[in-house]
Amino acid sequence: MEIYLEVIEKLLQANYVVVLTGAGVSAESGISTFRDPNGLWAKFSPMELASIEGFLSNPQRVWDWYQYRRNILNKAKPNSGHYAIAEMGKLFRQFSLITQNVDRLHQAARSSDVIELHGNIIENHCFSCKKPYPVERNLPDKDIPRCPDCGGLIRPSVVWFGEMLPIDALQKAENASANCDIFFSIGTSAEVYPAASLPYVAKQNGAILVEVNPNYTQLTSFVDYHIHETSEKALPELVSTLKKAKGIYD
Ligand code: OAD
Repeated sequence: MEIYLEVIEKLLQANYVVVLTGAGVSAESGISTFRDPNGLWAKFSPMELASIEGFLSNPQRVWDWYQYRRNILNKAKPNSGHYAIAEMGKLFRQFSLITQNVDRLHQAARSSDVIELHGNIIENHCFSCKKPYPVERNLPDKDIPRCPDCGGLIRPSVVWFGEMLPIDALQKAENASANCDIFFSIGTSAEVYPAASLPYVAKQNGAILVEVNPNYTQLTSFVDYHIHETSEKALPELVSTLKKAKGIYD
């Protein structure tokens, strides 16, 4: 398709490529997105389940919801989109992968140095003293666990609404966005800030913007190329064509 060839032509000239991903990348792996018509925020309240206020008003409800999501994630595997992004990472002198996803499926697909803007759902820590809680996923406890050191409530190590993003991850993401030649926004509605500001940082600094999304988003009218396709279809095709264009044959 014409648009793939145009993007490949730009990629062949690029030294530094940045990819920002959102929930759409994991949709094919059976992980729900948030804002699609059947997404999590159509069924659940973000303020009840993903905010400090929601946690304080009913910690057990919040804990149960994350356990429910972990049980789904336990059965999930990376899809062809995750693998194509990992492959893409090897094709450029500089490459940064920034994700809003908490599922660690990029790492499972062997992407390295993933910049996690919203934390992860695998780990937990104490709400009060912040100490990491030693047990990972699939905690047997039905009741919300307590911190062995201070007795505080244990919470998942995700970023909730109203919380600061991890400063180190945000700085790395902003720095990468400001310095790249091509910026991909893949499978995100581009509605949640500060992640949603990153494509604009890239554009202001002269990068080409490419969006991969089967739907239109707030960013679409601003990008140079919109690949109107799912990530699991578009990315393997893009990466295999790019490899051929670079003379790489497996
Ligand atoms: P959203 O649910 O807001 O957006 C998902 C996007 O993925 C939509 O634009 C869909 O069109 C697109 N999409 C769906 N299926 C796709 C597929 N197979 N391939 C490619 N794209 C597809 O999810 P995010 O943008 O990730 O934050 O949401 C950002 C943040 O809002 C999340 O990290 C989470 C949420 O509240 C926190 O929990 C802090």
